[in-house]
Amino acid sequence: MKVGIINSGGDVQGLNAVIASAVIHGSKHDIKFIGFEKGWEGMLDMKYIELNTLTVKGISHIGGTILHSVNKGRFAGKAGTGDKNIIPDEILDLAVENLKNLEVDALIVIGGDGTLAGAIQLADRGVKIISVPKTIDNDLGSTDQTFGFSTAVNVAVEALDRLHTTAYSHDRVMIVETMGRHAGWIALYAGLAGGADAILLPEFEFNYEALVKFLRWRKTLGRFYSIIVVSEGAKAKNEELVIKNSSYGPEVLLGGVSEQIMNRINQMAPDEFEIRNVVLGHIQRGGTPNAEDRILAKSYGTAAIDGILEERYGNMVAIHGSKIEFVPLADAIGKLKNVTSDALAYQTAKKIGVFLGE
Ligand code: F6P
Repeated sequence: MKVGIINSGGDVQGLNAVIASAVIHGSKHDIKFIGFEKGWEGMLDMKYIELNTLTVKGISHIGGTILHSVNKGRFAGKAGTGDKNIIPDEILDLAVENLKNLEVDALIVIGGDGTLAGAIQLADRGVKIISVPKTIDNDLGSTDQTFGFSTAVNVAVEALDRLHTTAYSHDRVMIVETMGRHAGWIALYAGLAGGADAILLPEFEFNYEALVKFLRWRKTLGRFYSIIVVSEGAKAKNEELVIKNSSYGPEVLLGGVSEQIMNRINQMAPDEFEIRNVVLGHIQRGGTPNAEDRILAKSYGTAAIDGILEERYGNMVAIHGSKIEFVPLADAIGKLKNVTSDALAYQTAKKIGVFLGE
């Protein structure tokens, strides 16, 4: 049997661990592997590398992906927050033909909601697919946790620890912008762990007057510095989402909200606060996966092979508690998981006085 592995969309820490563990587990069952380069593009252009236990040796703890990745291209089948894009017939035909010519029997597709939306259209053509969820945003509703999220939170917490000391020394307000798209999990977890005074999330619109009042109140208590963590998708009441690039594939590229907040506070309270904004950006996605993400990634990778051995095609591997489950692709896409006010971390932040928007 020959299996093709594809990772598509933004990279996350742990991708290499998924690839390596799938290849090592699958090789024991005489499965041969190829890995398509740059996601679906590699499949359409027949660009791939052979994967075996030697080529995946020593890669599990390395960040990024040995297969490279893109999050645009001819196969963009976005679901979730946007409308589903229908992949043209000729592209799907080419994919099916290439897989046939390469004698690929099944595909392991590692990706987020956009990738899954593409995968389902290929599965509809009879291609045998097992998918593995992937996003640092941790916003996929059909699985408890995606690998990369924990490391991204750790990176943001380390940054917050460092920013605390410099903010304290200068009596400054630091506004730290995290990734996460339309889900606030990274900001919430990093903010709570990193001792943020205010956490602004996409799920809860914030109020500028209340924020300035909160910062002034802290000063009256003698707390002359403050740390605000803002998720890139957070937005103020009656204001637009801050977008960095609106012509970015099927989605918009978010970014810039921390600068907007800095400018607005300066306008509303001139000379009252000395403010700096820090955009953590792709640092959150780079570097080595932490222990939790390595274990998660290896669990997903080996489970994908189990899915193939058990012929559970058309499903996504999901982890619920400590159990592996297989969720139909159609149920897995478009089901986003957002922060709600009953989330434990949200409740905890509230109880210890973190400003959450109002
Ligand atoms: O979905 C993962 C993510 O890192 C988001 O948090 C972020 O908005 C986006 O991807 C950035 O995309 P790109 O890598 O294309 O800049």
